Amino acid sequence: MCGIVGIIGQRDAAPLLLDALKRLEYRGYDSAGLATVDAQGAMSRRRSAGKLRNLERRVETEPLVGGTGIGHTRWATHGAPNEANAHPHVAAPVAVVHNGIIENFRALRDRLAKSGATLTSETDSETIAHLMAQRLAAGEDVKTALLGTIGALEGAYALAFAFEGQPQLLAAARSGSPLAIGFGDDGVMIGSDAIALAPFCDKIIYLDDGDVAILTPTRVDIFDQSGTPVERPAVAVPVQISLAEKGNYRHFMAKEIHEQPEVIARTIGHYLDIGAATMRSDAVPIDFADYRRVSLTACGTAYYSGLVARHWFEHLARLPVDLDVASEFRYRAQNFPRDELSMFVSQSGETADTLASLRACRAAGQTIATIVNVPTSTMARETDIMLPTLAGPEIGVASTKAFTCQLATLAAVAIKAGLDRGTLDEASAREKIEALIEAPRLVADALHVEPQIERIAKIVAPARSALFIGRGPAYGIALEGALKLKELSYIHAEGYAAGELKHGPIALVDDSVPVVVVAPYDDLFAKTVSNMEEVAARGARIILITDARGADAAGEAAEETLVMPDAPSFIHPLVMTVPLQLLAYHAAITNGTDVDQPRNLAKSVTVE
Ligand code: F6R
Repeated sequence: MCGIVGIIGQRDAAPLLLDALKRLEYRGYDSAGLATVDAQGAMSRRRSAGKLRNLERRVETEPLVGGTGIGHTRWATHGAPNEANAHPHVAAPVAVVHNGIIENFRALRDRLAKSGATLTSETDSETIAHLMAQRLAAGEDVKTALLGTIGALEGAYALAFAFEGQPQLLAAARSGSPLAIGFGDDGVMIGSDAIALAPFCDKIIYLDDGDVAILTPTRVDIFDQSGTPVERPAVAVPVQISLAEKGNYRHFMAKEIHEQPEVIARTIGHYLDIGAATMRSDAVPIDFADYRRVSLTACGTAYYSGLVARHWFEHLARLPVDLDVASEFRYRAQNFPRDELSMFVSQSGETADTLASLRACRAAGQTIATIVNVPTSTMARETDIMLPTLAGPEIGVASTKAFTCQLATLAAVAIKAGLDRGTLDEASAREKIEALIEAPRLVADALHVEPQIERIAKIVAPARSALFIGRGPAYGIALEGALKLKELSYIHAEGYAAGELKHGPIALVDDSVPVVVVAPYDDLFAKTVSNMEEVAARGARIILITDARGADAAGEAAEETLVMPDAPSFIHPLVMTVPLQLLAYHAAITNGTDVDQPRNLAKSVTVE
């Protein structure tokens, strides 16, 4: 999603803004821009389509002066990703950058056009600059104009403003989309997240929904929607965040895949007493005996972790799980039974649909538990019970380590549910806990298949289409494998429940379609192998992902067999995910796509 930065400092703002924008590149974007105000109050703007290097070149040939400025990376929603639609948008004396969507923008554009404003872009964001400029022209001060402007907006926004003629002033506002203010040696800064601000600031303040802020070099005044001054706590920038570097890896994604043993161990250590092989009593402050159902809601990869977890809750705790993608959940006619726990899963903690679903459950009086990777995120702050994944900052747009940490967390929570509900006795719980403790080691072993996967990726990379199949917990993993391949390498890929193939998708199968079969040696193995035989009989090129026992029992249908370490079946989903991540990664490298920032994608999806 769009990235926002702003600074009031002593040095030229443009290089600092570009640096901070680079740290936001991971969010995904397709154009970028800057506006600065010099000491005399003159404002200048540079924008360009495409990557930040285009903007950098532009600024090299047409330098920007001034210590105050705002910058933006745009992920297009309204209008093509071209220069005219890039931010900042200017309606003198106002320049604005915006993350989010203004839902009533058509009505606003019509109103502005009638009042004589000339809009030069197709965006919803430009309306904000004009609304603000009209209020200032009418004699309102910046604070009053800002409150009036946001009062006219419907939708989600994080906003930063600079003002021609006011070299020492920035303003900001937030509703729905996150925004932080930082303090450092270079001045006062605004940023979409702590990652943008980390190298420049040691302390940051997160604005609350509805807040507006007026920034000068010496002070930051924050007001709530009604204009009442409010204090928001300053928090230290987490050290981890400043360490968000690629290290020796070519891509963040490769680093994050290889970090998995460590971050899974860290996450498990939060929930389990590893030495005693028991649950930590205070880590999951939920008594599942109080609930008869769980509703689990998330988007994308996080949703697939829920698909796997549904098996765990149902098998270990006999707890029915109502699972849905958040964009559907929020518009369903919900019953919100009192004995249902509402659970959400999100890496960023900012995904608009998941957040809206969480708020719907909150409004209905449900108890809310959220599995979240960013502890300072909106969901982390709005949940009743925060269940952290300790994956550390995930920079690659495609989720990898956050997913396996979500699985590890959900596995621990499901064991706790089984214990609470008396469906899992101490001995069986211990067996599951011991299996989970093995996960980091087995995931590390799984990474050893990388050289073989590099070769297999050459089979997959030229394909126009690929199928991924699995059963039981491996079904969710097959869907995740297909999502990873399509988002990274732009190969059309579908994940199916293995048993569903003959109900339609098998019509797609011929010798040009690789079929990736995820089949650990478990109770459903023989069923999945039968489905594999069916597609093999139609000429498909089979890539079988299994373990040693599975490889022995699978017959000859597979062209390639990836033998993963033998693992207790409870943690198969964690182990089986690794080769699928690596396959997508190497197929993307072979196809020459942008691994860390695939086209059209955004890291933190803060719009509906
Ligand atoms: C895919 C991916 C997305 C996210 C989804 C939810 O690789 O990363 O599908 O999983 O956008 O994001 P979070 O987990 O931040 O709510």
